Amino acid sequence: MTYLLALDQGTSSSRSIVFNALGQVVAQAQQELTQQFPQPGWVEHDPLDIWRTQLATARQAMTNAGISAYEVSAVGITNQRETTVVWHRRTGLPIHNAIVWQDRRTEPTCKTLRQGGLTACVQAKTGLLIDPYFSGTKLKWILDNVPGARQQANNGELAFGTVDSWLLWQLTHGAVHATDISNASRTMLFNVHTNQWDNELLQMLDIPTSLLPRVQPSSSLFGEVCADILGSPIPIGGMAGDQQSALFGQACFTPGMVKNTYGTGCFMLMHTGHTFQTSHNGLITTSAAQTTPQPEFAIEGSVFVGGAVVQWLRDGLHAIPSSNHVQALAESVPDAGGVMVVPAFTGLGAPYWQPDARGSILGLSRGSTLAHIARAALESIAFQSAALLQAMSRDAVAAGGVAVAELRVDGGACVNDLLMQFQADLLGIPVIRPAVIETTALGAAYLAGLATGVYQNKAQLSALWQAEKRFLPQMPPALAQERMSQWEHAVRQTVLKPA
Ligand code: G3P
Repeated sequence: MTYLLALDQGTSSSRSIVFNALGQVVAQAQQELTQQFPQPGWVEHDPLDIWRTQLATARQAMTNAGISAYEVSAVGITNQRETTVVWHRRTGLPIHNAIVWQDRRTEPTCKTLRQGGLTACVQAKTGLLIDPYFSGTKLKWILDNVPGARQQANNGELAFGTVDSWLLWQLTHGAVHATDISNASRTMLFNVHTNQWDNELLQMLDIPTSLLPRVQPSSSLFGEVCADILGSPIPIGGMAGDQQSALFGQACFTPGMVKNTYGTGCFMLMHTGHTFQTSHNGLITTSAAQTTPQPEFAIEGSVFVGGAVVQWLRDGLHAIPSSNHVQALAESVPDAGGVMVVPAFTGLGAPYWQPDARGSILGLSRGSTLAHIARAALESIAFQSAALLQAMSRDAVAAGGVAVAELRVDGGACVNDLLMQFQADLLGIPVIRPAVIETTALGAAYLAGLATGVYQNKAQLSALWQAEKRFLPQMPPALAQERMSQWEHAVRQTVLKPA
């Protein structure tokens, strides 16, 4: 039997999954990760905690699968993207906590860059908008604020990495300092056309090149897990940022194929092949996971509050005892009764980009109940995702392509049939849930398997992908359009500031 081990280091937890060569889950393990909020708007992780939890789950998953390291053909790594770690090359110790992707502390730097007229240049080279989300300004903050860091960086004593690089360094006992193209594309320091670090961007943020990891295709040999870590050496054949990994795990390899991951937030990516497509509808361009050095791209949109709205129903409103009760409560009423929830708890992401917006509940009547609010909250996940998909379709058509034909879904909240049906109704296209919804980890396993000969080509992976359930649109298109108009109206009311 052939096994692949995927390490999936996410924002809220570290997970490891053992897959067989058919891409089926054999065993898994998970540990929560402690979130640190030192100041409002700041979010940090302890890098040693990231490594400790990841290693523990890797060992546990193998134990749960009843296998030894010599039975594992390859390891793949996938990770929360943009989160920034700087460590000392000699000691291997971090010089500061990891600054997490959600952290907003570098907004003043970003504002200066935007005011300096650099938006177009950054977008043309990286596909990104200038925002604290990405790693570049976080790295600059560490160099500027940790005593002695800049001097040590100038002396070549420090290493920078996103979480994939940090784990790779640990797994190889410091022998390999590398990252993959998809993670590099989230740093705002990387030219996605040439697949190289960009000197002009590095100068813009005053980042010495000595800090940077080597960049490789997402499916390639990165190194070997040292024998003492998991029991015997294992090749590391794949690394990719979690959203690009999910796109790969969904076998979305060709232009126009789209996946949406319903996690805490929602991340929707559309493959655009070898074409760098600039969005004119508020989305960003990013490198897809790559099996060769030839650039491949995706258009991406993110919803900040997706499944998190269910946590709010549970922990904020105490409307449900646990998240899996949401479907029953929402289904206890035939519809949301005119109620709209706009969960702009941390502003609105793509395609609205309203950082100062805050959430609202509209359309309450004397007959409104918690069940209506729960249903409206659930529907808000689909409304926001539909707005992303419509923006993507507009971009695709403007670039001479065709509108999106179907949506592949994954992530925790995609198990909710009510939500998926409503999503299909709003979009007017089939929503397809695959047999394996752990597609983030699966993508990393596939990338690793391709690099080590477990798989020969992507066509083989496409053949392994299987639908578990197809949700076909049932709502008349005119009604779906009316519901979207109601949503857009609710968003407009939410972002309107009182006089
Ligand atoms: O860009 C951030 C994204 O990679 C985080 O994903 O699943 O860890 O919340 P997740």
